[in-house]
Amino acid sequence: MAVVQDAYEKHGLGRTTNPDSYFLSFPDLPRSRIIALPARVETPDSTDLAGIKWIGSFPQNVEHGIPRASAVLVLNDMTTGYPFALLEASGISAARTAASAAVTARAVATTLPPDGRLGVIGAGVIARAVVDYLLAVDYGCTTVLVHDPDPDSATHLVRHASAAGVAARTASLREVLDCQTVVTATTALEPYIDRGPEAGQLYLNISLRDFVPQALAGAQNVLDDVDHCLKANTSPHLLEQLLGHRGFVTGTIPELLAGKLCLSPDRGVVVSPFGLGLLDLAVGHWVYTHAEAGGGALPVPDFFGDLRRW
Ligand SMILES: NC(=O)c1ccc[n+]([C@@H]2O[C@H](COP(=O)([O-])OP(=O)(O)OC[C@H]3O[C@@H](n4cnc5c(N)ncnc54)[C@H](O)[C@@H]3O)[C@@H](O)[C@H]2O)c1
Repeated sequence: MAVVQDAYEKHGLGRTTNPDSYFLSFPDLPRSRIIALPARVETPDSTDLAGIKWIGSFPQNVEHGIPRASAVLVLNDMTTGYPFALLEASGISAARTAASAAVTARAVATTLPPDGRLGVIGAGVIARAVVDYLLAVDYGCTTVLVHDPDPDSATHLVRHASAAGVAARTASLREVLDCQTVVTATTALEPYIDRGPEAGQLYLNISLRDFVPQALAGAQNVLDDVDHCLKANTSPHLLEQLLGHRGFVTGTIPELLAGKLCLSPDRGVVVSPFGLGLLDLAVGHWVYTHAEAGGGALPVPDFFGDLRRW
């Protein structure tokens, strides 16, 4: 979480490079995609780092009992440009997404205090990680309500949260949306939720496409990066198209974490993180340095073959 917070701070100060993600889609597999997220960031230990996450999303994997997402992360040295590490990155991606949710929720909590009720819509790998991180930061969850049309997934998350010591059960969509803090982590491609947060509520819109755009219009909207998030038919992007302007954007996660964004307790908050590749790099570098130090990195001698130009 400290690494993620540091990366957001640098992004807010303009000290990162994070171009648009590239979406590779397939006409014959409309639900599947593989996304490239290149970036450059300086890590907390002052390493100047570039790299790319290459993450596949094949939702049908779940029917075969394997996770939807799979990913690799390449870390490049900024002196030579050479890649120096290749990491499994679906775990890194889930961790940075959940860490982002936890640091953001913690920052919002100073204005909108949690009341203990956490609602989760979509009970997969990301939802599990977010629940774990919110519990780890003592966000104040005492009850977790879970909604997922797939009963197996819902039951698994209920058991997971119960094992962590909170009261958990499945619930209707309406009941979950009434919780003080609500997380969406579904694979829905079309919006189906027609209400936004009331005053005092925080919606963490991680899956980005669940809300009809009008539902966000009355909320305070916090995005990780405005240009990134207003793309790819996210709910905020649909709202921008509907209104013809960006006036509904209240601010960004980096502004919130830097104390430059004052939220009001009088309106609900929707946080929509598009997901920045620079977070994957920063967390991936943390994993790499710990693996190196602990003997867990696997060297590949002679990977580049001949390193003499002549
Ligand atoms: N914003 C970010 O930075 C970020 C990062 C990582 C993942 N994500 C997104 O998070 C989402 C979840 O990822 P995952 O790996 O946990 O997927 P997953 O397939 O493991 O779980 C998704 C769950 O959502 C459920 N679901 C589908 N439609 C639903 C609906 N209408 N209502 C309720 N539940 C529904 C499915 O049954 C499934 O159990 C994906 O959309 C992914 O793109 C966002």
